[in-house]
Amino acid sequence: MHVNRATARAFANIAFIKYWGNRDNKLRLPVNGSLSMNLAGLYTETMVRWDSRLQSDTLVLNQRAATEDARKRVAEHLDVLRARLGLVGYAAVESHNNFPMGAGIASSAAAFAALTVAAVGAAGMELSERELTTLARLGSGSASRSVPAGFVEWYAGDTHEDSYAESFAAPEYWDLVDVIAVVSAEHKAVVSARGHQSANTSELQVARVGGAAARLTACKESVLNRDFMAFADVVEHDSNLMHAVMMTSRPPLFYWLPATLTIMGAVRDWRAEGLQVCYTLDAGPNVHCLCMSNHAPEVESRLRATPGVEAVLVAGAGGAAQVITSAN
Ligand code: PMV
Repeated sequence: MHVNRATARAFANIAFIKYWGNRDNKLRLPVNGSLSMNLAGLYTETMVRWDSRLQSDTLVLNQRAATEDARKRVAEHLDVLRARLGLVGYAAVESHNNFPMGAGIASSAAAFAALTVAAVGAAGMELSERELTTLARLGSGSASRSVPAGFVEWYAGDTHEDSYAESFAAPEYWDLVDVIAVVSAEHKAVVSARGHQSANTSELQVARVGGAAARLTACKESVLNRDFMAFADVVEHDSNLMHAVMMTSRPPLFYWLPATLTIMGAVRDWRAEGLQVCYTLDAGPNVHCLCMSNHAPEVESRLRATPGVEAVLVAGAGGAAQVITSAN
């Protein structure tokens, strides 16, 4: 089949057990394995057109010409894909998100998963899901987890081929919902790539990484057993550990805003009252409140009533990244 153009859609994901720090920054081999859930409805859609007439790769992001930094990062990822696919021409890329970028809703995960799947589809190639996850990882580590469906584990691995992600439970396996309290939709000041590079400057990183495998096992079991209280305990602890590393890195990274801390405290109180909800945060101030679906409306209305909350997004477990259209 001859195609040169394809559009793919990939969902963002929220990590339950976090990825923070690399053993190899170039290959993005992480220091620990991680677990996440794709976020249904919060997606990036990316069109890639391989075009031999182009003089360089081009990028339109959310209907505007992208910054040179963003275009270069995409062009570097396209270099990797060109090498793998045996292509020489450049690509025109158009991408848009339906959620705010750069504020802890892992836009780079959805973006590089969609870019990888679209670029491969546009070349008329079919690669295994496992290989797609390793290629997406080279663009942004957490993007590997946005390729498979539902609840996903990314194995740390020690080579490019071994550091891949796969689904360990389908989206419908557990009725977990992420109710995201957006306290700032501004683009974060420090990109995660710099954070991964400075993680080792915190004395606490060794301790965080030392316990990561045990937390991952406990978290995966809690999902497979649908045991919310066990899940809440390990997810909040893992997020707190990552933020402790961030805050004690040199230079320190403080992602929280005052409203972030208020919500974290409220969530713990609500759980003590009987609501099945816990929090986790990525590299940004927004608070992901993970809860059972029957408690999601109550969590959502309490968050909307909380001062400092600008918006609330609600997402259940989402499916795999996939090509949605392709053409010559
Ligand atoms: O994939 P990156 O480089 O954007 O890193 C993501 C890091 C966190 O979102 C903070 C944690 C995670 O595992 O998603």
